[in-house]
Amino acid sequence: MNLKQQASQHFQQQFSTPCDIVCYAPGRVNVIGDHTDYNDGFVLPAAINYGTAIAASKRDDNQVLVYAHDCDQQTSQFSLDDIQFDQNMMWSNYVRGTIAMLQNKFPEVGGATLAVTGNVPQGAGLSSSASFEIAILKTFASLYELPLDGIQAALLGQQAENQFVGCNCGIMDQLISAMGQESNAMLLDCRALTFEDAPIPAGFSFVIVNSNVKRGLVDSEYNLRREQCEAVAKHFGVKALRDLTLEQLQSEQANLSDVEYRRARHVISENDRTLAVLEALKGNDIATMSELMMASHMSLKDDFEVTTPQMDALVEIIAEVIGQQGGTRMTGGGFGGCVVALAPDELVEPIKAAISAQYEQRSGLVANVYVCTAEQGAFRV
Ligand code: GLA
Repeated sequence: MNLKQQASQHFQQQFSTPCDIVCYAPGRVNVIGDHTDYNDGFVLPAAINYGTAIAASKRDDNQVLVYAHDCDQQTSQFSLDDIQFDQNMMWSNYVRGTIAMLQNKFPEVGGATLAVTGNVPQGAGLSSSASFEIAILKTFASLYELPLDGIQAALLGQQAENQFVGCNCGIMDQLISAMGQESNAMLLDCRALTFEDAPIPAGFSFVIVNSNVKRGLVDSEYNLRREQCEAVAKHFGVKALRDLTLEQLQSEQANLSDVEYRRARHVISENDRTLAVLEALKGNDIATMSELMMASHMSLKDDFEVTTPQMDALVEIIAEVIGQQGGTRMTGGGFGGCVVALAPDELVEPIKAAISAQYEQRSGLVANVYVCTAEQGAFRV
């Protein structure tokens, strides 16, 4: 049974009546371009074949009733007339926040009964929350026939995180969950909100490896990185680090702290690498992609300081197997979570074997491996 069928079955079991519709939105993996989105820069993620499915029916009243199968089978109910933050069921704030933002744009939105289920590993940096938000938006847009496009949906999802949930994230995760394209990654310009498909080479898959490092202090460290980047942009009097070149940064090195300099160097060089990987993918130049992904990992490790020793170990183990035949790096926000490899299919089993043989010994942890394909986003037509 696929995820949509499961959601529909949960709805029937929970509410003793069939649902009207089932909507779905994917999680994502980022090929390259991390911590660039909130600097108005470039990212290159793909939507993956793991996501969130929501079975739904309209209601006549102004209530939203949500059953979350994967959150201890809890049920949350609230009124559209008074959407409050819920201190007890944190998961329900994604629903509350997203609908609160949607209501600002489309006051005609009405009530609904929902059953939610998903298979994006939670807290692993594969955007289970963005996939949840975009699935909610797709569900309400379908139930109430709202003229909501993917870019608007992504912005509303991000607003829900920023203004309601309290996470200062960028736009990447919501945008790719809404707009991803099958068999492609996507170069997103996070300032212009435009995108370009980037073909995944034929015979290649994503091997996504969860380090299973417990992510701690993620929000505070993430927000701190963001503040450091904004401080450097302010120092130069520009809107965002997107507007600076490495030469400009170097010329001011003496007037910046070492940390500020390295944070900005990561962002500026990562933007260049991301654009270069787009060209490498278009030209099927795997060796160049491989080098750029490794350079990205090292920059996130040394300059941006968001990797962990366990993630570094995974990248080393994978790189030894794939050499220049594929690429590997940490992916997402960091501080734990996943590393990704874009690898030829014949190396998937050797990568898994190397991880089983070496990772636990080196880290004391057991990794989970997900072999993924690039899929279509919820709002992509
Ligand atoms: C998290 C955020 C994104 C992005 C990445 C890092 O996934 O939600 O907006 O900043 O971290 O690239």
